[in-house]
Amino acid sequence: MIDLSCKYLGLQLKNPLIVGSSGLTSSIENLKTIAQMGAGAVVLKSIFEEQIKFETEIFLQSDNPEMKSWQEAFQGIVSKTEFYYEEAYDYLTGYAKEHTLNHYLSSISEAKKVIDIPVIASINCSTQYDWQYFAKRIQDAGADALELNVYLLPSDFEKSGIDNENVYFDIIKEVKKYITIPVSLKTGYYFSSVAQTLLRLSETGIAGLTLFNRPYNPDIDIEHLQISASNMFSSDSEYSHSLRWVALLAGKLKCDIAASTGIHNHETVIKQLLAGADAVHMVSVFYKYHFDVLPQIINGLESWMLHHNFNSISDFKGLLSRKNVHNPASYERVQFLRLFSSIE
Ligand SMILES: Cc1cc2nc3c(=O)[nH]c(=O)nc-3n(C[C@H](O)[C@H](O)[C@H](O)COP(=O)(O)O)c2cc1C
Repeated sequence: MIDLSCKYLGLQLKNPLIVGSSGLTSSIENLKTIAQMGAGAVVLKSIFEEQIKFETEIFLQSDNPEMKSWQEAFQGIVSKTEFYYEEAYDYLTGYAKEHTLNHYLSSISEAKKVIDIPVIASINCSTQYDWQYFAKRIQDAGADALELNVYLLPSDFEKSGIDNENVYFDIIKEVKKYITIPVSLKTGYYFSSVAQTLLRLSETGIAGLTLFNRPYNPDIDIEHLQISASNMFSSDSEYSHSLRWVALLAGKLKCDIAASTGIHNHETVIKQLLAGADAVHMVSVFYKYHFDVLPQIINGLESWMLHHNFNSISDFKGLLSRKNVHNPASYERVQFLRLFSSIE
């Protein structure tokens, strides 16, 4: 009897396959399908800092009936675009933020009602902006855990590596003050010392690190002489970067590791688990082939385990992490002198 169950962020999952945060996880219909198809957990579409700021602005300036009634109530104190009293402004801004957040909160509670797998909420943030307020509300709405999606491009010439890295620590510290549900951090790899920074982040009390987010990448359209977007979705060969880091960090970090990017089939799921991942996040594959591939991936994992006489995930998790292989250098090597020089 094959047992795929595992623990991730302290949550009991029936298997380590997580549908990662994206537009696909924002509708209740999709969430139901994801659960029916056998996913171990789901990360909801992120609520974005920019989105809240933008929607708050729109709301404050809008002619919508709710805003109108506030404008009437504050007649003489507040006009449509100008707020005479800071208190009134704060009050209305708070109200508008609440309005934006409520939609997200109800999608969490609705998800919790209709699916029986863990629901991980997600916020995309780049500053300490009011997250203490939002994180607590997300917890109260019933989310099983919260993933913080923080991805800073260190492109500011004025900022040092430490300046940039402090942002991650500050956000975690702020959020963790207000909530007790597990918090994970999904991030990129732009750190001056990837291993040490991720280790230090894992020591902040977070329950997991998701390695790595796949950033939006720019491209250039040489026909129209314009900046364009490069491939929105990952390919099935893009997993090796996260595989390397999962293998290097497994057993060293003080929190769980979820592998992310380029995981499209059961073979890659198995590789990431062998490297030491506690769970995997998958997104692009579902955009390409919908959720029908989930049962195939689960079956593929089960058949492989059966074939290798592994009864549970813990029988092989981390078997090929850096810590457990004879030649750890195979994960650290970046120049294949022998290989490269033999190719003509
Ligand atoms: C269309 C689309 C929307 C996404 N939206 C989010 C999001 O809201 N929050 C987030 O943390 N990641 C988001 N991501 C990133 C994915 O969660 C994932 O980290 C990334 O796509 C790499 O995984 P993949 O190779 O399986 O696609 C999005 C990805 C795509 C393709």
